[in-house]
Amino acid sequence: MTKRMASCTLSMIDRWQDLVIQDKGQCKEIEMNIEFQELTVDIICHAAFGSSFNEGREVFEVQKELQKLASDSSTDIIIPGSQYLPTRWNLHIWKLNRRIMRNTLAHIIESRLNSKDENYGNPNYGNDLLGLIMGMSTTGSNRKNGDPKLNMKEIMDECKTFFFAGHDTTANLLTWTMFLLSLYQEWQERLREVVLRECGMEISDADKLNKLKLVNMVIMEALRLYGPAIYMTRKASSDMMLGNLMIPNGTVITIPLQVIHTNKKYWGEDANEFKPLRFTDGVSRAAKHPNPLMPFSLGPRTCIGQNFALLEAKMVLAMILQRFSFTLSPQYKHAPAEKLTLQPEFGLPIHLRPLGV
Ligand code: HEM
Repeated sequence: MTKRMASCTLSMIDRWQDLVIQDKGQCKEIEMNIEFQELTVDIICHAAFGSSFNEGREVFEVQKELQKLASDSSTDIIIPGSQYLPTRWNLHIWKLNRRIMRNTLAHIIESRLNSKDENYGNPNYGNDLLGLIMGMSTTGSNRKNGDPKLNMKEIMDECKTFFFAGHDTTANLLTWTMFLLSLYQEWQERLREVVLRECGMEISDADKLNKLKLVNMVIMEALRLYGPAIYMTRKASSDMMLGNLMIPNGTVITIPLQVIHTNKKYWGEDANEFKPLRFTDGVSRAAKHPNPLMPFSLGPRTCIGQNFALLEAKMVLAMILQRFSFTLSPQYKHAPAEKLTLQPEFGLPIHLRPLGV
């Protein structure tokens, strides 16, 4: 999917170049968080829905509204059963969900089902994420009554998860990495040197991107200091001991990722400083604990989009570094805010300069 990622990124960069030209070719202020939000939607829509990209985008608009409603109500006290009452709030949410399910996603999936290409008995629904899920769910069965692995509703739920999990997180990873590279100019220079040496002005493939070790170390440090996922929750499935704490069955536990990622006990006295070289010998040797970094979670429920997100971040950063230098705008106000993901409350205004000017 790197080609799709590259072509979406190139459209964004072309637009930036036009803006700079209109501004007499010197320097342009760009609101990066908004740019990266749009770019990651563009990429996930192309990756998930391929040619049905425009319809996929409509699903996204509704999802975005649902996500905002969830974020606004995340601190509300929930009265058990109240989610089933026809309040104005619930009616609005049900209507948005119906719009996604009935009008858009169902239409995309049905048209794939009608146009499937039979190849030696294995249906082929396309090589985007939706096509892969549909292919998997209709070949074989894992249910007692012989139904397909996933039914229509489950396929739709998977699509919604990809949107929810797959764009805002990566947009904020890119935003915070750009913030750090604007603040630490020497690191911006070092990364540009590596990218130009290894890739020139070419658009790199996954193999080449994965070899950019220094870029990877900067991304790891950005994930440590400003990881988009702030915490995870788990529910104890039986009474258990956690260290010397007794956790009763059914207790919901919150795991504060940011607190763990900046704990001096694991990371040392410089835990709050930006020091990508701490990852020189790999993630497991970066701290006094073998699993100190878990921005994508760990274990069986670890993020399935981790490689996708890291590849996307490397691709976008490499393409920007090849073409622009950048600094923080004096308008920037540092206010990381918890809104389901960690976001800059007042955005990230950046001054972009085309290289060589
Ligand atoms: C920087 C980017 C990303 C971060 C920081 C991130 C973080 C996470 C975390 C912490 C979890 C585990 C949540 C939990 O266990 O409670 C998770 C799960 C998940 N992520 Fe990501 N994610 C990112 C990008 C993506 C992308 C690009 C996709 C899809 C293309 C994706 C799809 C998923 C899915 C489907 C799950 C649920 C997996 C399961 O429960 O089995 N994520 N992610």
